[in-house]
Amino acid sequence: MAAPEWHDLGDLETLRQSPLQEIVIGKTRLAVSWRDGKLAVISGACNHVGGPLGQGILEGDYVVCPWHQWRFHRVTGKGEPGFEEDAVPAFATKIENGRVYVDLASATERTRKKHAPHPLSRPIERAPGPVRVVGISTTVMDRAYPRPSTSERLLEVSLEEARTAQGCETKLIRLDELKFRHCEGFYSKSARACTWPCSITQMDPTDQMDQIYEAFVHWADVILVATPIRWGCASSLYYKMVERCNTIQNQETIGGRVLLKNKVAAFIITGGQDNVQGVAGQMLTFFAEIGCQFPQHPFIAHSRGWSAEDMENNIRYVEESSELKDGARGLARRSIDMAKLFTSGQHPALELVPGGRKAHRLSFTEPKAP
Ligand code: FES
Repeated sequence: MAAPEWHDLGDLETLRQSPLQEIVIGKTRLAVSWRDGKLAVISGACNHVGGPLGQGILEGDYVVCPWHQWRFHRVTGKGEPGFEEDAVPAFATKIENGRVYVDLASATERTRKKHAPHPLSRPIERAPGPVRVVGISTTVMDRAYPRPSTSERLLEVSLEEARTAQGCETKLIRLDELKFRHCEGFYSKSARACTWPCSITQMDPTDQMDQIYEAFVHWADVILVATPIRWGCASSLYYKMVERCNTIQNQETIGGRVLLKNKVAAFIITGGQDNVQGVAGQMLTFFAEIGCQFPQHPFIAHSRGWSAEDMENNIRYVEESSELKDGARGLARRSIDMAKLFTSGQHPALELVPGGRKAHRLSFTEPKAP
């Protein structure tokens, strides 16, 4: 047995004022708790991804991690019932002359329960096959009593072109048919608390944002996003989706890990009122930030201006406009042509050098000799 390493934790009277607190001794973070007249000390580093247990809360005898709410017994360090194999170190303490001491050499073993990996965390490898196009409709309506949507209508035209004329596999995802939670700001707790797959996705099997992640990260070569203009911006559902994509962007920020490689993004923007350029700028910025490429002229748009309140005519105009439908087909073709450059290896692969987002740099792979 290792010789004891007693360290002064502080004055008992002060320590007992707080049910749970973090105390750091050298490089060791501790979660120090007080309950029912008994002080206890366990490691302050969570087994999951290292959350600060001492900054969490005490629920009964369990310390609840502030990042994703894993629970550890405040005295034994063992996980909650069913997860006892997930244990963080527990430490011996003693009280002398009103001061509390912890023996760092007494740490019990940290053990980890095997957790099945989330399906989204599998290696990202493009499966062979034709170019795959996912269309994301971000408009909101009551699907039981649907109304016409100009953005979704043009998206359908693009997907039809991709499927029938270009031989692609296509998938249409209507965001308002998915049930998914808002981003709850794990990133705001700590960059490392925002995980891939998304913390919500891992904790809540009913959350359907996994369908978007699956399409963006693993399935699609082309991402076509259609949005109406709402008060000069993309739809609220678009932003709800984008905020949940922090998990993708954050992997680049904290680990230089690019989840979206060689993906092409393009946009369809329609609105009875204007601000096409503002909406396009927002969408381009976001999809550029998560690593997408863009075809020449990466969006098509339609707006009849601020004073055009006759929406019935707007819908009729789009429905009857061969120009807009040709535009939607052209957008699909440009995007697919670009995706084919990647899938055929004719375009230089984009890599992110280690060191994070600030180190963006193109690394060119030599085209193979014919
Ligand atoms: S629950 Fe503690 S880091 Fe995730």
